[in-house]
Amino acid sequence: MKAIVYTEYGPPDVLQLKEVEKPTPKADEVLIRIHATSVNFGDIAARNFGNISHREFFMPLPFYLIGGLQFGFSKPKNTILGNELAGEVEAVGKDVTSFKPGDQVFANSFNNMRAYAEYRCMPEDGLVGLKPANMTYEEAAVVPYGALMAMDLLRKVNIQSGAKVLINGASGGIGSAVLQLAKHYGAEVTGVCSTPRLEFVKSLGADKVIDYTKEDFTQNGETYDLIVDVLGKSSFSQSKDSLKEAGKYVMTSFKMRDFVDMLRTSFGGGKKAICAILVAKPEDLVLTKELVEAGKLKAVIDKIFPLEQTAEAHRYVEGGNKKGFIAITVGHNDKT
Ligand SMILES: NC(=O)c1ccc[n+]([C@@H]2O[C@H](COP(=O)([O-])OP(=O)(O)OC[C@H]3O[C@@H](n4cnc5c(N)ncnc54)[C@H](OP(=O)(O)O)[C@@H]3O)[C@@H](O)[C@H]2O)c1
Repeated sequence: MKAIVYTEYGPPDVLQLKEVEKPTPKADEVLIRIHATSVNFGDIAARNFGNISHREFFMPLPFYLIGGLQFGFSKPKNTILGNELAGEVEAVGKDVTSFKPGDQVFANSFNNMRAYAEYRCMPEDGLVGLKPANMTYEEAAVVPYGALMAMDLLRKVNIQSGAKVLINGASGGIGSAVLQLAKHYGAEVTGVCSTPRLEFVKSLGADKVIDYTKEDFTQNGETYDLIVDVLGKSSFSQSKDSLKEAGKYVMTSFKMRDFVDMLRTSFGGGKKAICAILVAKPEDLVLTKELVEAGKLKAVIDKIFPLEQTAEAHRYVEGGNKKGFIAITVGHNDKT
């Protein structure tokens, strides 16, 4: 089968189209004929992992070390990237009962990657579910990353209808899903992003938008029940005055000092700092499908690249101009 392979860390050019062996499903696995995959933060970070020092890494040192053990410190252990996919079940192992050949599915392989290929096996009880009926394969391939994070995060903070929420990084993969879900739960949402993406964030349902290149949300006197900081561009101490009493400051990227803030604020009432680590559950893919089909969650695609141009897709994302998601279409030579 065709796959995009990389054998060394580096710029997008390390991604090369190769012929590799087609996988065979084990007893508890499904074999998926992939129709679409995506480029998200995880793919970019894993492609370049060996060139990122632990100081530059977006998480504390222990997470960097875990990443190194998983991905490989000097060269990639797993040579095929791609952590999201959508496609059709082609075959199932003898013990599989919840899927059958022909089922249209979407999946998130998490850091195990290997979706930049024509086929991938997934365990039946992994992050794989029936694809939303009203989505194309490309849309279904980009939706799990942000949706799973958003569901887990908003559950952790027990979001309430009427809550005032600010998302610092509302136009990205995670922020756009948090925004839509927070609106679904009845929150009033302010989205923070840069000038070119203000309209995009409004179109996702934000009640207000703030351009971080022109205004510092910590200085405008507004207060929120929940602030979600996606990239760690602010901090709990900087944003404390923008939280209501008992307000929560949730970070999806954090360093040791943020952990210290979390420990310090974890006792008693008052404002809380929370470092959120995604705990993804297969049932959240079922909920994702339901929300998409009910029109509560959408995935806006900016560009679609063919598998052969995956390096170009990575280059485009790193150029910093995307407005929405980047999908990769996986064509099959034998497609009828
Ligand atoms: N905790 C976990 O379990 C977990 C899991 C997955 C990922 N992550 C973290 O999530 C992060 C990636 O998130 P993503 O995929 O949503 O990234 P993304 O798609 O690249 O989006 C980044 C967002 O941040 C905004 N932004 C950029 N510079 C900013 C600034 N100075 N101030 C405010 N906002 C700014 C961007 O707005 P513009 O585009 O308009 O500039 C955009 O909305 C990574 O740091 C990763 O560590 C955490």
